[in-house]
Amino acid sequence: MSEQEWVQVSEAQIAVHWQEEELFHPPAEFIAQANMTDPSIYGRFSLENFPECYKEYADLLTWYQYWHTTLDTSDAPCWKWFVGGKINASYNCVDRHLAKHQNKASFVFVPEPEDEPHLVLTYRELWVRVNEVAALLRDFAGLQAGDRVTLHLPMVPELPIMMLACARLGVIHSVVFGGFSGRACGERIADSGSRVLVTMDGYNRKGELLDHKSKSDIAVEVAQEEGQTVDKVLVWRRYRDRHASAAPMVEGRDYFMDDLLKGYVGARVDPVPMPAEAPLFLMYTSGTTGKPKGCQHSTGGYLAYVAGTSKYVQDIHPEDVYWCMADIGWITGHSYIVYGPLALGASSVLYEGSPTCPDAGRPWRIAERLNVNIFHTAPTTIRMLRKAGPDEPAKHSYHFKHMTTVGEPIEPEVWRWYYYVVGKGKAAIVDTWWQTETGGFLCSTMPAIQAMKPGSAGPAVPGIHPVVYDEEGKEIEKGSGRAGNICIRNPWPGAFQTVWGDRGRYVETYYAKYCHDEESKDWRDWPYFTGDAAMQSQDGYYRILGRVDDVINVAGHRLGTKELESASLAVLEVAEAAVVPLADPIKGRVPDIYISLKPGYKPSQRIKAAVTQAIEVSIGKIARPQHVYIVPDMPKTRSGKIMRRVLADISNGRDIGDVTTLANPEIVREIQRMVQG
Ligand code: WT7
Repeated sequence: MSEQEWVQVSEAQIAVHWQEEELFHPPAEFIAQANMTDPSIYGRFSLENFPECYKEYADLLTWYQYWHTTLDTSDAPCWKWFVGGKINASYNCVDRHLAKHQNKASFVFVPEPEDEPHLVLTYRELWVRVNEVAALLRDFAGLQAGDRVTLHLPMVPELPIMMLACARLGVIHSVVFGGFSGRACGERIADSGSRVLVTMDGYNRKGELLDHKSKSDIAVEVAQEEGQTVDKVLVWRRYRDRHASAAPMVEGRDYFMDDLLKGYVGARVDPVPMPAEAPLFLMYTSGTTGKPKGCQHSTGGYLAYVAGTSKYVQDIHPEDVYWCMADIGWITGHSYIVYGPLALGASSVLYEGSPTCPDAGRPWRIAERLNVNIFHTAPTTIRMLRKAGPDEPAKHSYHFKHMTTVGEPIEPEVWRWYYYVVGKGKAAIVDTWWQTETGGFLCSTMPAIQAMKPGSAGPAVPGIHPVVYDEEGKEIEKGSGRAGNICIRNPWPGAFQTVWGDRGRYVETYYAKYCHDEESKDWRDWPYFTGDAAMQSQDGYYRILGRVDDVINVAGHRLGTKELESASLAVLEVAEAAVVPLADPIKGRVPDIYISLKPGYKPSQRIKAAVTQAIEVSIGKIARPQHVYIVPDMPKTRSGKIMRRVLADISNGRDIGDVTTLANPEIVREIQRMVQG
């Protein structure tokens, strides 16, 4: 291979050999009660019936006004769904359930401290609180349809209440994961143009009451530096009788929500009928360049898609007790804790804390006590629970009919533990592959229709038509044993509409690579590029192999390597930085960082600590590197590109192959000695 070829070989082109796993059939009791048992759904959602097939999902919702155009492609590739339709997400998730289910639990909130009582929020109570908060947002904060608000909140009922209050007014929410730093929050505030930030004084995590409010002070400052003024910070109190943060309240800017809400008792706000294609929310995610992208999701299309997939893939019935252990601060929580399940009138568990607090039996105690029968989590959590308490599930009498895994590939061994030990061999499992951008599931088995295969997401869900392309855009045939770039041939209603404020980046990142004709208004010319490598086996099941771009999936969440690198470059002594993924038995991948110093500086523990600190401050603890290596120089191509692949091989103890064509091959041995001893 020439140097040029070698540099450009992407993960997507490497042939993969793996053993075909045995199939597991869904239990008969599951099939007997499932929402979708009819295989003809695939025919109804075939490409011949596209796009009208999606009426079936949209009809799960209540519309003020029906749409005239199911899919408008005139502004390709910014697709518009259900054009002419008017709808409100808050009405669909709350109001419309009151007539029959006002006393049904919407959420059962489980605080992390085990001696604190659960809080049951009925649909009636959810409605009351959403109305009061909506009135406050409108009358006190002066917000109206189309404005953006940043919500930096932990896993507490106030988060879905805030989201639904925004949706009631047509205000666009941008939820920032509570674990993110003040700086990360401030950058997202600035990008979204929010002048209101909602936060909480503190929350419980891993046995500690964390100060959260102080992050808002940094966030406001960072936003200001980037030109965005925040004029109101609304602060919820985790406990009414004590303040969890020592950070002072800024006069005229910071307000306690409980104080303000006294003025809105009994307030009612009519839901605002919104155009189906009005944005419902922004969700920021990492990409290949430094700046996170604000994925803009629609109201009607998104809600239809998450309602449909919650019903048929998650198999949620009104009488189920559903528990998705993800954080609402990620897309999984938006789609499969808040919008999808509530649109169906589900009862969900909302858990504040860490799954292993105070011990690895906690999730199963919660499941037993609340009689949870649908359980949804990520491989990283499954690995952690398997390691910390492999025998715990057997000690508890709960019964799961359905379980989900999401966020990263699951090793067949881990899958089997999930199936036999957590599910006690009685649950249907779905391995759902999708992304922040896609709004909802792309690949998964339909749980009562297809068999499960450990480690494979399964075929595409109804209405999604994937294709695996090689680098030249030629289709890779199923069963060929070769991997490629998995793309989706057609638009679907859950797909994001654009990157907030940057249509060029949207087109470039997701559609340019395999576009047949940039002038075309025909969706067939615009396959959606997911950025994942995948291969399809003979039976049509897809196995997802991971990202092909500069993104590391840590514990099921995307971190841009560039974001980490630019954070470390902020440390005075650092000249160059390269981040690579290191395989980790629990988190899947963790970042390893290599840095070289500016001339005149000597390596030291202090510099390493400063790099770690810089990353924690700019992104959050989730991005903390496993190792910081100070190297004399980076391995580089003759054209000066840092060879991250070589560094990744060194970190992971893999064979580094032939490096003689590099500009500085001797440095590779030196780094290898340093890392591997
Ligand atoms: C990336 C998206 C989807 C919500 C959570 C993450 C990886 C996601 C799977 C799965 C293998 C998966 C992909 C994808 N991924 N689900 N079931 N099997 N890989 O959302 O942060 O936008 O990350 O996560 O690489 O592109 P996200």
